[in-house]
Amino acid sequence: MKAVLVDEVSKRLVIGETAEPSPGSGELLVTVKATALNRADLLQKRGLYPPPPGASDILGLEMSGIIEEIGPGVSGWSKGDRVCALLPGGGYAERVVIPAGMAMRIPSSFTFEQAAGVPEVFLTAYLNLFMLGGLKQGDTVLIHAGASGVGTAAVQLVREAGAASIVTAGTEAKRKACLELGAAHAIDYKAGPFAPIVKEQTGGKGADIIMDFIGASYWEQNLASLAVDGRLLLIGMLGGAKVPEVNLGVLLSRRLQVIGTALRSRSLADKLDLTRRFAEFALPRLEDGRLDPVIDSVWDWQDVEQAHAHMEQNQNIGKIVLRVSS
Ligand SMILES: NC(=O)c1ccc[n+]([C@@H]2O[C@H](COP(=O)([O-])OP(=O)(O)OC[C@H]3O[C@@H](n4cnc5c(N)ncnc54)[C@H](OP(=O)(O)O)[C@@H]3O)[C@@H](O)[C@H]2O)c1
Repeated sequence: MKAVLVDEVSKRLVIGETAEPSPGSGELLVTVKATALNRADLLQKRGLYPPPPGASDILGLEMSGIIEEIGPGVSGWSKGDRVCALLPGGGYAERVVIPAGMAMRIPSSFTFEQAAGVPEVFLTAYLNLFMLGGLKQGDTVLIHAGASGVGTAAVQLVREAGAASIVTAGTEAKRKACLELGAAHAIDYKAGPFAPIVKEQTGGKGADIIMDFIGASYWEQNLASLAVDGRLLLIGMLGGAKVPEVNLGVLLSRRLQVIGTALRSRSLADKLDLTRRFAEFALPRLEDGRLDPVIDSVWDWQDVEQAHAHMEQNQNIGKIVLRVSS
């Protein structure tokens, strides 16, 4: 089958031939219709984010497609069913094998391109907000990079939970998109410090939860933005990994929690549990439009290099999708 491969010398992405996967017990073989980009793909391409042990070394953390073959011991699925799923790798390919429990039925009104934009960012946002962050009605969540793939999913989930979100985003168009998705306030982080604005917007209390993809460069301001008992979910490190000085006293005196989190390295059992919980919460909402993946753009997978450049340049609002087959 064909797949996007990384050229060893140039590190450019090229479509080439690779081995055909075949489903084992409890697995499904899916013909991939669309996949979507994630920031991790940019790192993996450069050899900076190796796949977890046992995972495909082909890029791609999610896909949508059609079930082509059903492995022994699988029930509840038929050939031809439209599914999407989170993957540990292997999405940038014509076919992929998934554990049957990872498959989510695609809402009837969805295109494959829309469905490909759901798994990674919505599951990440769901895991962090509800299962790790303890989000509850009435909370305020500060979401950095609000117009990112994960950010646009998080803003919608916060709204559905009856909570309020404040986002940071780097352009007027991104801030407008976040407000349209339901954010209560959008901060231009390039215009000055965000912490005083978060304090002002929360009547001096601070945010209950922060979804942070930025890391080191936001550390001090993040702590200053949290309410007493607040939780900082450290999900990415776009702004660096090393903080020169840490005052533990701030964590202790204001009872703050810092939670490091990574979805890809979790066990299959964890991912099955997450997928089941998320599907129960979100599939009815995706079906009736309360939740809607924000699709920035759709590219033919032949143009994967240009699609990656678009993400690299921070141009996307929501998901960048690759069409693998029509
Ligand atoms: N831990 C996990 O399990 C997990 C899972 C999924 C994703 N992630 C992480 O979550 C983050 C978002 O992923 P994504 O695929 O949704 O990203 P994305 O759509 O590519 O969006 C990232 C956005 O972050 C902003 N940004 C980039 N560098 C920045 C910096 N130095 N300081 C401030 N803002 C910066 C840019 O928006 P502006 O124009 O607004 O600056 C950029 O468009 C990534 O770091 C990714 O690795 C983690």
